[in-house]
Amino acid sequence: MNKPEKIPPKGHDSKNKFFNSVFADKEMIWMGQNTNHLHEHDFIADAMVKCVESKEYCKYPPPEGFPYLQKLILKDLDLEEMDILVTAGGTESLYVCISELIKKHNNVITCDPGYLIIDEFASRFSNEIRSIPIYNEECGYKLTPELVKQNIDENTKLIILIDPLNPLGTAYTEKEIKEFAQIAKENDIYLLHDITYKDFAREHFSVAKYAPDHSITIFSFSKIYGMAGLRIGAVISTPEIIDATRSELINDLGTNLISQAGAIAALESKPKWIESIVNTTRNNQKLIKTAVDSIDDIHIVAYPSDGNMFAIDIEKTGIDPVALANYLLKKKIFARQGVYTSKQFGDKYLRVSFSIPEEQVKIFCKELPLAIEKLKNK
Ligand SMILES: Cc1ncc(COP(=O)(O)O)c(C=O)c1O
Repeated sequence: MNKPEKIPPKGHDSKNKFFNSVFADKEMIWMGQNTNHLHEHDFIADAMVKCVESKEYCKYPPPEGFPYLQKLILKDLDLEEMDILVTAGGTESLYVCISELIKKHNNVITCDPGYLIIDEFASRFSNEIRSIPIYNEECGYKLTPELVKQNIDENTKLIILIDPLNPLGTAYTEKEIKEFAQIAKENDIYLLHDITYKDFAREHFSVAKYAPDHSITIFSFSKIYGMAGLRIGAVISTPEIIDATRSELINDLGTNLISQAGAIAALESKPKWIESIVNTTRNNQKLIKTAVDSIDDIHIVAYPSDGNMFAIDIEKTGIDPVALANYLLKKKIFARQGVYTSKQFGDKYLRVSFSIPEEQVKIFCKELPLAIEKLKNK
């Protein structure tokens, strides 16, 4: 089984207690979960407060999401002709699709590094997860159509494309998306396009545009919309696939009504905040790049990132990424050791996210060289 890292972090008897203590520390700089801390306006909060005040939460919402919210999501993606299910986040979307599509004899193609929760879900239903190593320049640090062709066979049912990729921030070109679409159509298999970070990317191309009948698009409100704690997302596909996934749903009585009110406001207000959030995020990654470039033996794996995160390779320093993450945590900076997103290359890098205020990024830039210096000499 492709189980994600389950060992409790040092000094904590469970992962939950660890996260609780990080969460409780109000001074903690949040670079460990690719969340977005840059929303300055109150559009989303105000809509939710209004919803709470209406006390309409005593009713169940429509089970597949408010049609107005569904319409707004499809409009945002320019996929108005497709079907949609509102879920309690990208995570639920991933689970219902994978559980519906995959049988034991099917294999699933994913990549390493990648978002390991997807591999773990797939391994509950399939006997074989083909996790392709992509931590190299040759493939551009992403799963390529060529790599997929080399690894596909008659039992392949699903190809996972995380675009941009958590943790490296690499994204697909239009040419690559068209080639993937072609592969899916020729082999009659599905492309699961996880677009959780798409709005941070310089360019984004939708698999659903080129292979609508073979695409499953995973949508999240956790990142650019800054709503991770509200647990809301969606899955977009053909009416047949959406219909089939309904039978896998546990949340049969619908997704949190207050979160849906926030999500509607988030999409309606998007033109008012998107540019400033993306610009700050891009500028932040430049600041970190300058800091990283000034330190011997470390580098950013793929730059620039099309996400709100990237990986800093520290292999040459001999420092264990877990030790670096623990050191930074003591300085009140929460970042993630590589093993969280890679089984094969987790000992090489630290992942940091940077959709946080610039002053916090500057603190990280000041602490990073001190941390490397200190841990190198241990
Ligand atoms: C690629 C990817 N998909 C899905 C998720 C989870 O999304 P959600 O918070 O909407 O469940 C994450 C969270 O980090 C992610 O990186």
